[in-house]
Amino acid sequence: GKSREVEVNPNRFLNIAHRGASGHAPEHTMFAYQLGKEMHGDYIEVDLQMTKDGVLIAMHDEKVDRTTNGSGYVKDMTLADIKKLDAGSWFNAAYPEKSQSQYEGVKVPTLEEVIETFGKNSRYYIETKAPEVYPGMEKELVRVLKKHKLNGQNTQSSKVIVQSFSQESLLEMNSLAPEIPLVQLISYSKPALISDAELTIIKEYAIGVGMNHKRIDRAYVEQVRHHGLLIHPYTVNKRADMERLMEWGVTGMFTNYPDVLEAVLKNK
Ligand code: G3P
Ligand code: CA
Repeated sequence: GKSREVEVNPNRFLNIAHRGASGHAPEHTMFAYQLGKEMHGDYIEVDLQMTKDGVLIAMHDEKVDRTTNGSGYVKDMTLADIKKLDAGSWFNAAYPEKSQSQYEGVKVPTLEEVIETFGKNSRYYIETKAPEVYPGMEKELVRVLKKHKLNGQNTQSSKVIVQSFSQESLLEMNSLAPEIPLVQLISYSKPALISDAELTIIKEYAIGVGMNHKRIDRAYVEQVRHHGLLIHPYTVNKRADMERLMEWGVTGMFTNYPDVLEAVLKNK
């Protein structure tokens, strides 16, 4: 019969472990993802970059400089180059109070390694980052998801949500694998405003939207919900912000502290 995992409904409130439990462990490492699961994250968030030899890896920035001991652009490096890097020591240096010796020398994971490690009993909220820099990124993502049978037939059965700031990237995903649920990320530099016309267009290919929680208000949340779209603000790390956004009716959120969000949800 159906497992419980299959019945998890993305329309219920979602706790999304942003770059893993990245407030506790080095972002986009197996340690951060494992903690995200242990802390009751419903989804592991994975940002994607693509190597020179076409492999999708989990990394937020286009350059390796901030989160590894290397330097330069992922697009100019092979997977072998990436695998020489230490993706944990920077965290120990930046956050001595959270440092752990096991983080030293931890490797940058590929998307396939993440999926092979956490399997089909996990859920993945995957972002195509800088898709304009990586032609073929969506095709490779679909290949990996299909190989591991993570592309369910609908939002209930899919283990994956794909998100992007790039509408073009999402439309490409939609044409390659229309069954995979999509979320349109929107960047605001001022208080967020969106038209009903824009939301109607987004609704044609996406199940929801995501944006900086600091830019939105109750009216924005209600407008998005009125269109039947999910709304997943990022990156919400403080308890008071979590509580206020839930009160406004958001349907999930990205957090570096899935343990804090879990505590807020439990108290409800
Ligand atoms: O994907 C949601 C949020 O993570 C977007 O911002 O820069 O952390 O990927 P960023
Ligand atoms: Ca992201």
